[in-house]
Amino acid sequence: MLPQIVETPPGPKSLDLARRLSASECAGITYMAPDGSFPVFWESAYGSNVWDVDGNRYIDFTAAFGVAACGHRHPALVEAACHQIHSLLHGMGDVHPSRAKVDLLDALTAVVPRPLGHAILGQNGSDAVEAALKAAYLHTKRSGIIAFVGGYHGLSGFALGCTSAGKFREPFSPYLTDNVTFLSFPRRTCARDNHDEMSLNRALSAVRQRLSDKYLPPVGAILVEPIQARGGIVVPPDGFLRGLRELCDGVRTVLICDEIFTGFGRTGEWFACQHEGVIPDLMAVGKALTGGFPLSATLMTPEVAASWPKSPGEAIHTSTFLGHPVACAVGASSIKLMQTLAIPLRAARGGDRLMQRLRRAFSGSPAVNEVRGRGMLVGVTMTNGRYGEPPFQVVNRTVTAAMRRGLLILPCGANGDTVSITPPITTSEAQLDHGVEILADAIAEAVT
Ligand SMILES: Cc1ncc(COP(=O)(O)O)c(C=O)c1O
Repeated sequence: MLPQIVETPPGPKSLDLARRLSASECAGITYMAPDGSFPVFWESAYGSNVWDVDGNRYIDFTAAFGVAACGHRHPALVEAACHQIHSLLHGMGDVHPSRAKVDLLDALTAVVPRPLGHAILGQNGSDAVEAALKAAYLHTKRSGIIAFVGGYHGLSGFALGCTSAGKFREPFSPYLTDNVTFLSFPRRTCARDNHDEMSLNRALSAVRQRLSDKYLPPVGAILVEPIQARGGIVVPPDGFLRGLRELCDGVRTVLICDEIFTGFGRTGEWFACQHEGVIPDLMAVGKALTGGFPLSATLMTPEVAASWPKSPGEAIHTSTFLGHPVACAVGASSIKLMQTLAIPLRAARGGDRLMQRLRRAFSGSPAVNEVRGRGMLVGVTMTNGRYGEPPFQVVNRTVTAAMRRGLLILPCGANGDTVSITPPITTSEAQLDHGVEILADAIAEAVT
């Protein structure tokens, strides 16, 4: 369905919930615009639509942080959740595991590239990155890590240590490890000329140099997003992942691909590393894995998995809700659904259409710097506003203006200069086209 605005968002019910939430939640968590213009509160969602508490209907170009790949509240997933809830609501993941956990692991290991056949489950993306870093250390016994500027890997301990943005790190800097070296992430230019080759060579040569540096802790792991998502939808030049793979192989360092945003079809392949035919030693997945329940996984090769000591009865890595039966049941069903719906193929086709429409809408626009991405992971980078305002202010105004017209989008990028577009992959052509029209109107409003 297309959007329908019945009360200018945020309507009175959203405003009332904002007042109640402000009274009870730590102010550091949910963004409340000082003038009350943001956020709206969600009541329900289905497919690519979200309804707010005031009855406004939106097109969702966020898939709620990239999670709802098959659309919100898909009936197959709701049925799997209900069925599981009625038999086992909570289990003992690493002591008396549930049938659902085994079914999920069977389904998951069948779709990830071989030989990533062993998994550790977690509840969110950060958990998956933590487990991957622990595995890398167990396997290599080397504490140095290479991560990339602009990379986002989550905000818990080890994961935050590898997330580059100062705004997340600085408040907690005394707690963070200094074993991480941040190197620059090369970007593919629209023109795809020599520039790409130069930036690729520069990036790989910096990695090579760090790997051979005798004065810093030896590097056990390279942690990389195949396409930086929250960092601004930054696609590296072809050959970057392959280059990292070769460098890792030369020194027995492990390659960890963080596919938490890019995984499960979003970029047009099941996993973004497959665009380059690269198989990492470890892969972190989450988000679209279940389409809406908190579950993540760290996949590893048999060699890496063998570095974990066999559990003597008390595992060195577990948690109360590990392998939660409802999340696992929904996850197994979600993987089956993504296969049935041919989600990677749809993302490739939908992404082509989206990119074409966006490029047409913004070609020659002084407000837009670049439209870039792969599959249905797309970014629109903005320029300064008419009166010299920095791009992040224009992006924030665009997000609010789009919301008022019935389109949900998010900002991203190191400086917040990019609009992130990650709709459910099942979004119809009419919804995609309409969303682009709304975005164009919202940008026009934001720059005036
Ligand atoms: C690439 C990537 N890694 C890790 C994370 C962290 O996931 P979570 O927020 O579920 O902890 C995210 C979240 O957006 C992400 O995009």
